[in-house]
Amino acid sequence: MAGGIEIAFEPLTSRGSGGDLVVFVGDDLALSGAASEVLGRQGAELVARAAMSERFKGKAQSALSIPAPANVEADRLVVIGLGSEKDRAKLDWTTLGGFTAGKVGARKARVVLDWPGFAGSARDVADFSLGARLRSYGFDRYKTKKKDEDEDEATAALTLLTADPTAAETAAKDAAGVAEGVVLARNLVNEPPNVLYPEEYARRVSELTKLGVEVEILDLAQMKQLGMGALIAVAQGSAREPRLVIMRWNGGEPGEAPLALIGKGVVFDSGGISIKSAGGMEDMKGDMGGSAAVVGTLHALAARKAKANVIGAIGIVENMPDGNSYRPSDIVTSLSGQTIEVINTDAEGRLVLADVLWHIQSTYKPKAMIDLATLTGAIIVALGQDIAGLFSNDDDLSAKITAAGEAANEKVWRMPLIPAYDKAIDSKFADMKNTGGRHGGAATAAAFLKRYVNDVPWAHLDIAGVAMSSTPSEINRSWGAGWGVRLLDRLVRDNYER
Ligand code: BES
Ligand code: MN
Ligand code: ZN
Repeated sequence: MAGGIEIAFEPLTSRGSGGDLVVFVGDDLALSGAASEVLGRQGAELVARAAMSERFKGKAQSALSIPAPANVEADRLVVIGLGSEKDRAKLDWTTLGGFTAGKVGARKARVVLDWPGFAGSARDVADFSLGARLRSYGFDRYKTKKKDEDEDEATAALTLLTADPTAAETAAKDAAGVAEGVVLARNLVNEPPNVLYPEEYARRVSELTKLGVEVEILDLAQMKQLGMGALIAVAQGSAREPRLVIMRWNGGEPGEAPLALIGKGVVFDSGGISIKSAGGMEDMKGDMGGSAAVVGTLHALAARKAKANVIGAIGIVENMPDGNSYRPSDIVTSLSGQTIEVINTDAEGRLVLADVLWHIQSTYKPKAMIDLATLTGAIIVALGQDIAGLFSNDDDLSAKITAAGEAANEKVWRMPLIPAYDKAIDSKFADMKNTGGRHGGAATAAAFLKRYVNDVPWAHLDIAGVAMSSTPSEINRSWGAGWGVRLLDRLVRDNYER
């Protein structure tokens, strides 16, 4: 990983020298007591004059940078706007941390986390640190010539001055665990498939054992033994063997039914015999974004020792054209016993998930099951690139996921699951076919998955639009977003921890 960031916590009264000094103001440009203190009268006057001449109005997500006056122990002053009182009331601390880290870039900075009416808790300050960490992420593993002055990527050092540094530091440890989970997910999504083939992917996941996660890896022979005919069909055109990786984090009560998270891990989706067109095919290295979110979440939960039982299961395959590929018109038998007529080998994700869902629900009897998958282009047509599609058989689980998405600012939108979608995948020759035609493509894909879910609350997140090729944000400048880790971590924290 490029850049990176070091974050420390000190009291509001602490002083240092050099680097940036960051203070915050609302749209009245008033400084807090702590900010006035570090700036002194000279500094405060300079800020007021510079604001006037630069027409800086303290609006949310605006900033003013000026050389520091001699009385202030810093090289540069950065004044960050927080907007109106209303803006400040719905302040997103993670975004603010990202914005601040973006302004500071690769420098060293002291950040005075205080403003008139400041009401941040230790957890808010921790969220600020999370945003700063995520902003500093860059993926330059394969650049042999490193840029050393890249604003977003070189190492930064932030000292956050806050009223209760001890409490903030404790809360920030958990946030750092979550940040590591997101970074892990981003790295996995950004890696090319010649490096991250199924066996290597499984090996990387097995490193979670260092955090106390139990990791079980099933190889092709074991999957054949179990009868995972759907997953195996997808994998059979690839020179690389598939893997099924099951992660278990037992932080909850012994014997308590787990929450199961399931991810699509297609390391590269060429479409297979129904091959995709060449334009943009390189993006299909990110077709394992659902699995990356699951792995990142398990990392986060273990790193912060979440008091919950959570299982992660990811089906890792490569979808390739070959003399041994599965083909349109093939009929395969899934682990559930249900048969599937293959219409299009590019609708491969649902075949992989069908077997993983079935295996997990019958082996672990989870209390709820959530799958994440870059499943359809149709969800991108429907919702765009800033919100994921949610399909579910359970209103309560849907509400919990929606709320966690709002809290983490990884938003989801519930989509319908009506009998017509299920009907669309009936097959002339088998129990079902793997596509339901052009209409409602994301919904017929969800209806397919539903046939592999019995009596358990289940939700499917179609993350094709949000997992990769992401809209740049204050906390993400990476192609692979690591989308879902913060949502799932939040979901567990708010609903499944004792
Ligand atoms: N991995 C793709 C979906 C996708 C598309 C993800 C674009 C991210 C960006 C999936 O396997 C796929 O190819 N789906 C097909 C299904 C169709 C053949 C029924 C699609 O969406 O076109
Ligand atoms: Mn496909
Ligand atoms: Zn795919």
